[in-house]
Amino acid sequence: MEAVMINFILIIFFIVVLILTIFLFISRSKIQKQARDLRYKIKEIKSHEEELEEMNKDLEEYSQENNQLSEKLYLLINILSDLNNKNLSVNKYYDKLLKTILFLVPEAKYGSVSISDEKGWRFLSTVGHDIEYLNKLDLKASNKIISNEVKIYDNLLDRLGKFMDRETQKKFGFGTKPIKSSLIGSIDIEDEINLSISIDIPYFSKENFDNNSKKILESFLNLASSYLNQKLEGDKLKRAYIKFTNKLAMIAEGYDDITGTHIYRVGKLSKLLAKNMDIPEEKIEEISVFAPLHDIGKIFVPPEILKKPGKLTEEEFEEMKKHTIMSKKLLDSKYFKTAQNIAMYHHEKYDGSGYPFGLKGEEIPIEAQIVSIIDVYDALRSKRPYKDGFSHEKTMKIITNGDNRTKTSHFSPEILEAFLKVEKEIENKWGIL
Ligand SMILES: [Fe+2]
Repeated sequence: MEAVMINFILIIFFIVVLILTIFLFISRSKIQKQARDLRYKIKEIKSHEEELEEMNKDLEEYSQENNQLSEKLYLLINILSDLNNKNLSVNKYYDKLLKTILFLVPEAKYGSVSISDEKGWRFLSTVGHDIEYLNKLDLKASNKIISNEVKIYDNLLDRLGKFMDRETQKKFGFGTKPIKSSLIGSIDIEDEINLSISIDIPYFSKENFDNNSKKILESFLNLASSYLNQKLEGDKLKRAYIKFTNKLAMIAEGYDDITGTHIYRVGKLSKLLAKNMDIPEEKIEEISVFAPLHDIGKIFVPPEILKKPGKLTEEEFEEMKKHTIMSKKLLDSKYFKTAQNIAMYHHEKYDGSGYPFGLKGEEIPIEAQIVSIIDVYDALRSKRPYKDGFSHEKTMKIITNGDNRTKTSHFSPEILEAFLKVEKEIENKWGIL
């Protein structure tokens, strides 16, 4: 009985083991299948990931290309719209133009824009090359390679040996970066001026120019020449108008100054003073050119008042004061903004006691403040029907200490300081002008 029990238990045990084995076997196969599926899915996901990464890379490249295209487009629009930008100097325009060309022709790393005429060969803009050094070399127009069609020149410095002496060639080499090859184009402007653009590949570069580079330079050469043509036409007109208004200013000065010495001196001395102040170069030039027009409005003052030898009556003086406002009739153009400021405000005083508006302090444009102190200096030093000309010392004493007509508070401390700094130069120049 006991043996039967043991056998029964053993049978049951085997059956249980068998069932468990079968169950485990089935479970293992299932797990294995699931693991296989999982591995497959992981692989699939990985390959999708790779695809996505590729797509991402493409997108990034596309976006970079797109950015570059937008930047190119922006630069082109910018350089075109600057054709009419009156606030941009010729040099600054060509700086922008040259940088745009170098951006569009990346194999070139250096470049220059230059002009040649009877005065010589001058650089208007350079990238890489030393513009200050090159412009000090006193280069002749005949030293320049004139390339009427856009052409590639290898070993430019060696080639220049045909156009300049050994010494100049050597010095030219000091001012320029070592170049492997240059793309040069030239264009005549108004017969006597020749404009050239050169873009250069550095000596150790492996890159070369292609047809695309040539086409780009050709287009920009045309743009550069249109700009210069337009500038020269504008300058011609401006110069003619300034010459004409200068003549008017001389007439306006009346018989006292028919030779124009007063207005000439005011121009030169105002420039001298402006140069010693923190004023941009272009503004200094404008002050020099336009200061002589400060009394242009006197052309509208009745001659009997203008030429009256004695003291003016109150009414006559009121009439005389109008020469400031009347100047607007002749200088009513945005090109003459500085001239207008000088003519309108040169009788305003820093302390607000001047005319026509009683402007105070920095409300008075700096150009008017400069011309005002020079005008006072010149008036004190000049002989008038009612007074002798004062010495420099006496004049300086009046300006710095004041008298019954002139007060120190009429001038800004900044102007007075600059004036005192250059008083010796002013004295010397006044004597020879
Ligand atoms: Fe005046």
